[in-house]
Amino acid sequence: MNAPIGVFDSGVGGLTVVKEIMRQLPGENLVYFGDTARVPYGSKSKNTVCKYSKQIVRFLQTKQVKAIVIACNTASALALDEIREEIDIPVMGVVEPGAMMAANTTRTNNIGIIGTESTIKSGIYNKFLHKINPDITVVSKACPLFVPLVEEGLWEDRVTEDIVGRYLHELKEYEIDALILGCTHYPLLRRVIGQEIGEDVKLVNPAYETAKSLKLLLGEKNLLNTMSIEEHEPTYDYFVSDGVDKFISFADDVLSCHVDHAEIVDIESY
Ligand code: DGL
Repeated sequence: MNAPIGVFDSGVGGLTVVKEIMRQLPGENLVYFGDTARVPYGSKSKNTVCKYSKQIVRFLQTKQVKAIVIACNTASALALDEIREEIDIPVMGVVEPGAMMAANTTRTNNIGIIGTESTIKSGIYNKFLHKINPDITVVSKACPLFVPLVEEGLWEDRVTEDIVGRYLHELKEYEIDALILGCTHYPLLRRVIGQEIGEDVKLVNPAYETAKSLKLLLGEKNLLNTMSIEEHEPTYDYFVSDGVDKFISFADDVLSCHVDHAEIVDIESY
């Protein structure tokens, strides 16, 4: 089926998920929406994040998407259930695939989670992990400064090393052997986070796990695009609620292909 997959995020960070989908599902057409006018979601309430997410879903449905991926951890944590109740196409968040990988990886049963304030406060990762294995101990930490650091391009800067050190030192007191990078931006800090937390701790990237689960889900539902990449060039359409230039420049840093155009959408009207 060659209808596109809709992917959305609070802003630019969801491009880390897009990158994994492009890599693991190279034949699929994608429509991305980044809510760059209303970012961040990570400090907002459930009500607000649900309202914003539903508007975006309505917009994506006008593009005839066959499935929706909520690339934003915060929106996955707070809005996934409500969105699933409203529409009848498959909707996938990033939390469950990440939690499943971490639960399968850990040997000590001690798992760390880092994310935005709202994701951590929601307790959603703990819920999924305990459902898979009630013996798992979860240590979580909100790291609100990571998002602005990434968006400023300071992926490997000394300032970033310092702040990563401050946030993660607490986690080092527990014998975690898996750390979930529970926010769209954090995989871009992978090197610094890995250095700080130590090589014995496996870093779990929900973006990668989500693309893997998406492939399985589309396969099960007979929704995979069966045309080969030789037969068609996949289309990637990008929409944002503000700041096209900043979006394009960030996309060029994250994705392996150049983004030459993004369209502004008046998302409040959906
Ligand atoms: N996309 C958000 C997330 O993954 C991070 C940025 C924000 O706070 O909106 O939780």
